[in-house]
Amino acid sequence: MTSPDLAALRPRLPSPVEEIADGRLGRHGVRLLLKRDDLIHPDLIGNKWRKLAPNLAAAAGRTVVTFGGAYSNHLRATAAAGRLLGLRTVGVVRGQELSDRPLNPSLARCAADGMRLHFVDRSMYRRKSEPETLAGILREVDAEDAHVVPEGGSNSLAVRGCRALGEELRARADVDVVALACGTGGTLAGLAAGLAPDQRVLGTPVLKGGFLSAEITALQKQAFGGRRGDWSLDDRFHFGGYARVPTELDAFAEDFEDRHGLAVERLYVAKLLYGLVVLAAEGAFPRGTTVAAVVTGRPFP
Ligand SMILES: Cc1ncc(COP(=O)(O)O)c(C=O)c1O
Repeated sequence: MTSPDLAALRPRLPSPVEEIADGRLGRHGVRLLLKRDDLIHPDLIGNKWRKLAPNLAAAAGRTVVTFGGAYSNHLRATAAAGRLLGLRTVGVVRGQELSDRPLNPSLARCAADGMRLHFVDRSMYRRKSEPETLAGILREVDAEDAHVVPEGGSNSLAVRGCRALGEELRARADVDVVALACGTGGTLAGLAAGLAPDQRVLGTPVLKGGFLSAEITALQKQAFGGRRGDWSLDDRFHFGGYARVPTELDAFAEDFEDRHGLAVERLYVAKLLYGLVVLAAEGAFPRGTTVAAVVTGRPFP
């Protein structure tokens, strides 16, 4: 088994940083930069590159098995990586009922990229990390020696991979605050560990519940042995929870696209940008602050 040649995929690293002039922040003395991780690779977009690259290397040619919902960006990125690197991939999808329906565009893309889709019911999906359940799933998909990547891709390899995002921003001494939207929190956990001591991270969770701080602390403990970096979360910008895109958010994103010519991914990036506009208006950033917002994804299709 040999490691796949990730360099042959020519990732654009470090990802570019762009300054944009937005009066809603500018009038409060806040300078806004966009850290364009969405430009790293056309298929392994944003944090997907940073999380998957170390996992693909660790898979060393073995089948990669991972998990996700019917619209998972992570499943699509894993499937694309399989196609590009010649790796066998299996996507374990939440929702047995989906198996008798036509594939939605996201799962159709996974299948077209050669991913084997394995649908499981929601109760089994919840138990997927229990050793017996996982072993059963791996047996069923005939991949008992697979490299298993958790839902959202946030294992310790991924968290350590995301530290490079922080290191790239550490090289930018003008950046005071790095802001990003969080799902599992794996990207934030790694990013925070790579920044300079005088830089801080602000995360905006897209899921409701207020449980994420503890999970990020646990991810940092597993990956680095303890809490790292200066980070905090603002739980006010989930807009009702995962995948909820109310009209107000959609209108905000459309307007941002018109102003700045950036395609705004709705489930994460739009919620972050909206949060930054609110925070600037609240005076949360002292005048003269430079905020770098991480563009972690791109709309699909
Ligand atoms: C576009 C986008 N942004 C942000 C995230 C959140 O990343 P994390 O789960 O590491 O918090 C995801 C999910 O992986 C995503 O698809």
